[in-house]
Amino acid sequence: MSEKEIKDDCHKILSPPPVYFIKSISEQGYSLSTAVADLVDNSVTAGAKRVELLINTNVTPLRLFIADDGCGMTVEEITSNMRFPSADLDAPRAGNDLGRFGLGLKTGSFSQARKFTLVSSKQGMLYEARTWDVEYLKKTKDWTLLIESDEATGNFLKDFYTQSLDFHSRSEVFVPRTLIVWEDLYKLERLKKRSEINDELEELRSHLGLVFHRFLQSGKLEIRLNNSMIDAFDPFPVNAPGVQLIAENYWQSTDTFVRFQGIILPKRAAAEVKEGPTVWAPHGRTLEETQGIFVYRNERLISYGGWLRTISKSVSLQFGRIKIDITNANDSEFHLNVAKSSLKLPFGLKRAMSEMVAGVAAQAAKEFRERLASGIIRNTAAKSGLSLITRYSNAAGPVLGINHDFELIRELEKNLGSAQLDLLRTITCLLEKKLNQIWKGDLLSSSDVDSGLSAEDKEKIVRLWKHYKESGYAEGEIREFLLESFTHNSDTVNFINSLT
Ligand SMILES: Nc1ncnc2c1ncn2[C@@H]1O[C@H](COP(=O)(O)OP(=O)(O)O)[C@@H](O)[C@H]1O
Ligand SMILES: [Mg+2]
Repeated sequence: MSEKEIKDDCHKILSPPPVYFIKSISEQGYSLSTAVADLVDNSVTAGAKRVELLINTNVTPLRLFIADDGCGMTVEEITSNMRFPSADLDAPRAGNDLGRFGLGLKTGSFSQARKFTLVSSKQGMLYEARTWDVEYLKKTKDWTLLIESDEATGNFLKDFYTQSLDFHSRSEVFVPRTLIVWEDLYKLERLKKRSEINDELEELRSHLGLVFHRFLQSGKLEIRLNNSMIDAFDPFPVNAPGVQLIAENYWQSTDTFVRFQGIILPKRAAAEVKEGPTVWAPHGRTLEETQGIFVYRNERLISYGGWLRTISKSVSLQFGRIKIDITNANDSEFHLNVAKSSLKLPFGLKRAMSEMVAGVAAQAAKEFRERLASGIIRNTAAKSGLSLITRYSNAAGPVLGINHDFELIRELEKNLGSAQLDLLRTITCLLEKKLNQIWKGDLLSSSDVDSGLSAEDKEKIVRLWKHYKESGYAEGEIREFLLESFTHNSDTVNFINSLT
C-alpha cells in the first residue's frame, strides 16, 4: 500500500461549509448593540481614543461604518485576523485585552451583515482591505476571502469621509487607522419603518454609553454615533444624594480576586425615571430592567439586568445594584459567552456574595415598600378624609396608622353602637399592627414599633380575649393569636399569660 493510500484510508478532511458555518456561529446571542460593542472592544484594545460610527438611515442599502484611531494592522494581520477564529483560546492575552475567542470581529459582523470589509493600515503604511461576503462564499463554496484592490480600498475610505462630512458637517476630518464596513445589513433591513431602525440606533447609543461608561468617563475614549457624542451612563451614581452604599467586599480563590460592592438607589428614583433622563437609569430603560448584579471585565460592563441566579428578579428589588470587577484572567471560571453578554458566577463567589445579595435585596425591598407606602399614605399634617392610611411618628420612629377621619370610616362609625364601635376599633388596631410589620419588613421579628404595653392595648387584649372565649376558641389558640398580633415584649407576654 502506498503512503497516499494509507492516508486516504485513515482519514478524511471535512471542512465546514463556509456559509452554513458562518450563519450558525453568528447566531450567538448578538443584538445590534452587543455586536457593535464587540467591535468597539477591539478598538479599545487597539488603544483607540476615538471610535466613529456612521449609518445613514435615509439611504438604502444601509451601510454601517465603524472607524477607530487605534494601532491599525499590517496586511498580514488583516488577513490572519479575518480567520475564524484568529487566535488560540488558551493563548495568553494582555491584561487590557477585551477580546476572548478570536471571533468577535467576524461573528459580531456576520450577526448583523452578510458582507463586511476590514480596512486598516499600520502607521506609515498603505491601507489594505479584505472582505468576507456570504454571496461570494455561496459561489465558491470555499473559504475565499476577497482581497480588495487599491481602488476599492480607497473607495471605502472615501465613502466614509463623504458620509462623515455630508451627513453631519463638522470642521475636522477624522482619519481612521481601522475601518470596518458592514453591508447587506439583513437584520436592520428587515425592519419595516425607518423609525424602528432609529429606535435600534437609540438603543445602540444607550448600550454603548452604559457598557463603556468607565472609559468614556475617564476621558480615555470618545465614541460618536453619526457625529454626535455618546454620553457615559454610570449605573453606580455613588455621589448622588440619597444613594446608600453597602461596604465593599471581596472573594479570593487560588487565582481569582474579585471585588464587589452594593448600592441602594433612593425611592424617589422611581418617580424621577418616569419623568425624563436621570442618573438612575440609562435612557429608555427602567429601574426594574437595571436591577441586580453588574459585572465589569477589565472595566467594560459585560452583564447586568438580573441577579445571576443568586435571587430572582423582582419589581420590589428595583433599587438594588451590586457591581463586580473581574479581569480577562477569570474568563473560563465565569463561562463568558461568545457575544460577551452573559456569564455564570463561580460557585464560591456566589456563596461569598450571598450575604451582600441578601442585604442589598432587603434594603432595596424596604425602599420599595416605603415608596409604595408614600404613594398611598399621607403625613398626619396632611390628614384628610381622603387618605385611609396616615403616617406619624412616635418614640420608635415613623409608624403607619388607619385614619379614623377617613370619610368612609367616619360614616361607618357614626352608625355603630358602642359594642360594634369597640369591635371596629379593635379590627383597625390589628390592621395597624400588621401594616407596620409588613411596612418594616419585620413579620418574623420580635421587635415592634412600641415598647412596653399601653393601657389602651391592655384594654384591646382583654376585649379580644373575651370575644374569642365567648365564640368558643381554645385558650391556647387565642393566646397564640394575641401574641402574634401584639408586641412580643415581656410585658405583653406576661399580660396575655395572666389571662389564662
Ligand atoms: N479595530 C482594530 N484595531 C486593531 N486590531 C484589531 C481591530 N479589530 C480587530 N483587531 C485584531 O483582530 C483580532 C481578532 O479580533 P476578534 O475577531 O474580535 O477576536 P478577539 O478580539 O477575541 O481577539 C484581534 O485580536 C486584534 O488583534
Ligand atoms: Mg474582539
